[in-house]
Amino acid sequence: MYICTQSFLFIFIMAQDITVTIIDREGVSHELIAPTDMNMNIMELCKSYDLPVKGECGGMAMCATCQCYLESDTNLEEQSDAELDMLDQAFFVKPNSRLGCQIPIEDSIDGIVLRLAPELD
Ligand code: FES
Repeated sequence: MYICTQSFLFIFIMAQDITVTIIDREGVSHELIAPTDMNMNIMELCKSYDLPVKGECGGMAMCATCQCYLESDTNLEEQSDAELDMLDQAFFVKPNSRLGCQIPIEDSIDGIVLRLAPELD
């Protein structure tokens, strides 16, 4: 009697979604589910949820229309020279200002809380 056995190994790598809280300019808190496997940043995430973030330069750190304030104790990567230069020229800048387009959606920022900076009229 001949017995043939085959085994199959399926490995599923499930991307983890994280939670991002955005407080809009009216003070309303929005809890967003953010995928970590789509190479997105905070500016793009806000736009995908139709939050009022312009992102006029497309994420090149050249417009500051994605400025937000970090309100959680999340450890972010150090700001690049480009981000610091842009914030030097922006309005409404605070010590906790960051450019949303320069914050990648990754596991390490799960639970982050950001408040949208005011816009110029
Ligand atoms: S989208 Fe322009 S600086 Fe972030």
